[in-house]
Amino acid sequence: MTRILPLATVLAGLATTSAAEPMPFRSVTVELPMGDRSFPGGQEAEAINSNCLACHSAGMVLTQPRLTRTEWQAEIEKMIHAYKAPVDPSDIPKIVNYLTRMKVDGAEMTHQDVEAVRIQSAFGFEETLKRLRSALEVTGFTIFAVIDHRSAAQSVGLAMPPTTVLVFGNPRGGTPLMLAAPDFALELPLRVLVREDESGRALVVYNAAKTLDGKHDLPAGMAERLAPAGKVIAEAVSASAAAP
Ligand code: HEC
Repeated sequence: MTRILPLATVLAGLATTSAAEPMPFRSVTVELPMGDRSFPGGQEAEAINSNCLACHSAGMVLTQPRLTRTEWQAEIEKMIHAYKAPVDPSDIPKIVNYLTRMKVDGAEMTHQDVEAVRIQSAFGFEETLKRLRSALEVTGFTIFAVIDHRSAAQSVGLAMPPTTVLVFGNPRGGTPLMLAAPDFALELPLRVLVREDESGRALVVYNAAKTLDGKHDLPAGMAERLAPAGKVIAEAVSASAAAP
């Protein structure tokens, strides 16, 4: 998987090699346009920025409730085993330290938005679509609709890159949520977007279960029941899915 390093990481790296003495990274990085797509903290955030931004923003991680060291360790193991995150083993202790410490500092992470998960597929556009459809069907989801935005655009003479949304769900999983919070029906069925970017890579985007937590008065924690869909999606398009 190719990884795009956030600007701040690259700059922090440059600063390390050119300075004779350790630099006060915190004050340096504050000036940088980091946004909440990367983790604040300059050099201290280097390990987490280079291992944990391939699939989701920093906001997704920083809006978690306060976790203990052991729980963070388990969370990272989950990323590696369930979602096939390519994490450098020697960086794990640094990431755990960062997360444990950041939760204590607290201050910098109040305005992090939880954004959609965006994964770069290990496959081309068509293959990604095919793999997602079959992975979802095999695991008990029904594909209710396939929305091909590109052909809709073409039908009115407009050009756009391949962009398709799969609408899918499983009544067994969704019904209890709608019974608990009737307006939550607006969020279902679930959707996953597959699109091709300018460089021909296929990107897979979906709302993390966590972003739906508490929406339309859904009882706290209930959205977690939708998380298996994310796991199926992430696994279907990861490089290790390519193995026969
Ligand atoms: C290969 C892609 C990938 C990488 C790399 C990755 N994650 Fe995740 N992460 C996911 C997916 C998929 C989810 C589940 C989103 C959902 O709910 O559907 C997730 C969710 C999370 C959550 C929310 C809680 C949860 O368990 O659902 C946290 C916290 C998190 N990741 C932390 C990390 C950290 C820390 C790293 C770096 C060590 C990391 N992630 C790297 C794919 C990844």
